[in-house]
Amino acid sequence: MFLLALSILLLGAASVDVAPLVGAQHDYEYLANITVGGQTFSVIIDTGSSDTWLAQKGFACLNLTGHPVPAATCGFGSQGFDSKLSKSFQPYPSTSFYITYGDGEYLSGAAAFETVTVGGLTVTHQEIGMVASAAWTGDGINTGLLGLAYPSLTSVENTSHGQGMLYNPFFFNAVKQNKIPHPYFSIALNRGTITAEHSPRPDPHLGYLAFGGIAPVPVTNTTATLPVQGFSIATHAPVSGAGATYSYYGVDVQKYVFPGSAAIFTAQNSTILDSGTTLNLMPSAVAQKYNAAFNATWRDGQYYVDCAAKAPPFAVVLGGKTFTIDGRDQIVSFGKDADGKEMCISGTQDGGPDMQGSVFILGDVFLHNVVTTFDIQKNQVTVSQRQHY
Ligand SMILES: *[C@@H]1O[C@H](CO)[C@@H](O)[C@H](O)[C@H]1NC(C)=O
Ligand SMILES: *[C@@H]1O[C@H](CO)[C@@H](O)[C@H](O)[C@H]1NC(C)=O
Ligand SMILES: *[C@@H]1O[C@H](CO)[C@@H](O)[C@H](O)[C@H]1NC(C)=O
Ligand SMILES: *[C@@H]1O[C@H](CO)[C@@H](O)[C@H](O)[C@H]1NC(C)=O
Ligand SMILES: *[C@@H]1O[C@H](CO)[C@@H](O)[C@H](O)[C@H]1NC(C)=O
Ligand SMILES: *[C@@H]1O[C@H](CO)[C@@H](O)[C@H](O)[C@H]1NC(C)=O
Repeated sequence: MFLLALSILLLGAASVDVAPLVGAQHDYEYLANITVGGQTFSVIIDTGSSDTWLAQKGFACLNLTGHPVPAATCGFGSQGFDSKLSKSFQPYPSTSFYITYGDGEYLSGAAAFETVTVGGLTVTHQEIGMVASAAWTGDGINTGLLGLAYPSLTSVENTSHGQGMLYNPFFFNAVKQNKIPHPYFSIALNRGTITAEHSPRPDPHLGYLAFGGIAPVPVTNTTATLPVQGFSIATHAPVSGAGATYSYYGVDVQKYVFPGSAAIFTAQNSTILDSGTTLNLMPSAVAQKYNAAFNATWRDGQYYVDCAAKAPPFAVVLGGKTFTIDGRDQIVSFGKDADGKEMCISGTQDGGPDMQGSVFILGDVFLHNVVTTFDIQKNQVTVSQRQHY
């Protein structure tokens, strides 16, 4: 009986695909393995963008102002994808792929179709970006990125008239191709340790990306399901449900709670859940007030904190539930100063003034504390507070 029950359980579980994650670059990034055309690479998992891309063998490396630099400067973890070694590679002529990220990195090339596998989930004829030219500050481990946000953010153009050609990202095709039991993916990003953060090697066991199931870590009963915040193409106003276009995984933050928060509360609908951003980037007033309670110092555009400080509490209210951020996540290792002294920055930084058009970010600092499940059919996210770890 026991064996029978167990095998049924395993059969049931087999359809949920789970990719283990590792941390890189001081655990500022979370990486999973991806297999494209039979070649395996490590890629950043990013809920804040939609394209999946790989550096292609022979790529040109550029610095951020576009000047050629040696390939090693880009810091990819491999020589890149070799289309000649793939049996499934199909170029997509007359297309161009071009993407820039918030930190100034940018990549360009063309689109192609490939067979793509992540955590046991295989999608055929997946459109991806083949990077021929890269201005990238790599970690020596990743060779690309897996974009998990909505089709409206994809970055492929028709070269003959320069117009966008939106396409279904990897997870959207997985759902379309009926590869998974439920139309959602779920992430758990573990916080790393300072020791591992100082190692140039990937930090193992740093969480999970589950497709069609829930990331397998213990959670509490504090959980909320809330609509993904879309926007109206006509008015640009935040809306969800009918008439909404979805792009990022935006949510309606009802409240931030921390010492002094009552005085400055701002609620807004332009905050995104982004695994590809390390820090929380909050409205200026929120960051300023919180970091004042932290005795942080403002230098070179960032709030620095004492690595030995005790972080003031910080909580995020979503869907009527209060999600707390562990103080350890608010003290982020930032290398050493000229005297060899350990430096730390606050996990809560200034994302700009709270005005229309701003986008604020709940990044890994928040995501370490929750399991987040993204349902692309209901356009909902479920956030569950993790048990203490
Ligand atoms: C990624 O793949 C490499 C080799 O193919 C393997 O050694 C490594 O353990 C894998 N890492 C993860 C996180 O799956
Ligand atoms: C890129 O390289 C050029 C030429 O060496 C240099 O003038 C420029 O300052 C560099 N830009 C950056 C961002 O490093
Ligand atoms: C690009 O647009 C041209 C002109 O509209 C069209 O003929 C061509 O098929 C398009 N190419 C792609 C790759 O869609
Ligand atoms: C949630 O868990 C807490 C602590 O484990 C318990 O006290 C509380 O009754 C639970 N609430 C619900 C609604 O189950
Ligand atoms: C944010 O969107 C929700 C609906 O998802 C709406 O109820 C709320 O009023 C909006 N808040 C703001 C500040 O626009
Ligand atoms: C900030 O400084 C005050 C005054 O020295 C002190 O009481 C408080 O504990 C400090 N807070 C933090 C988070 O270090």
